[in-house]
Amino acid sequence: MRLVVLVSGSGTNLQALLDACADPAYGAVVVAVGADRDGIEGLARAERSGLPMFVCRLADHPSREDWDRALADAVAEHDPDLVVLAGFMKLVSEEFLDRFPTVNTHPALCPAFPGTNGPGDALAYGVKVTGATLFVVDGGVDTGPILAQVAVPVEADDTVEVLHERIKVSERAMLVETVGRMAREGWSVDGRSVRIG
Ligand code: GAR
Repeated sequence: MRLVVLVSGSGTNLQALLDACADPAYGAVVVAVGADRDGIEGLARAERSGLPMFVCRLADHPSREDWDRALADAVAEHDPDLVVLAGFMKLVSEEFLDRFPTVNTHPALCPAFPGTNGPGDALAYGVKVTGATLFVVDGGVDTGPILAQVAVPVEADDTVEVLHERIKVSERAMLVETVGRMAREGWSVDGRSVRIG
């Protein structure tokens, strides 16, 4: 399964996929990495792996629609079977989603705490358990059919950063395991139900 991975930051989820894909038995290969900004560690990781990269910045396009189309065209050049949003901090359009099956990993237990501050919102709410969710992207904000979830405890003295790092340890394992199973066993969506295998 050919993966195009989109990132906006440090790219540790991308790195976990790259490490898994080094084993041919994993069943998937990252064919390109895209970003919405320059100078991020996620792109440096792609460069170190010798992968094709592209950057598509919103500010370089006259409208969000133009940006989205340019992003989709850049993705299409690599002919992915699946697009993985791995810390990509932008929403993509329905047109984008019509072109590529797309999954996203989110650092909270959906449908709780959608958006860009999942760990901070969970901490502020005072939950004792949060986690991460891998889902098939639809037109909403972190609303798509759920592929996998992992629970992570919130500890008494957590800061947002400490909590997010704890979530990311489990999140990376969930992402690698689930994408690998999708690649090896196939997957289908029926309403809100996703079946792997
Ligand atoms: C991950 O925790 C991912 O779930 C989150 O950004 C982090 C990226 O970490 N994404 C979102 O919050 C999207 N709403 P990474 O760059 O080290 O993989």
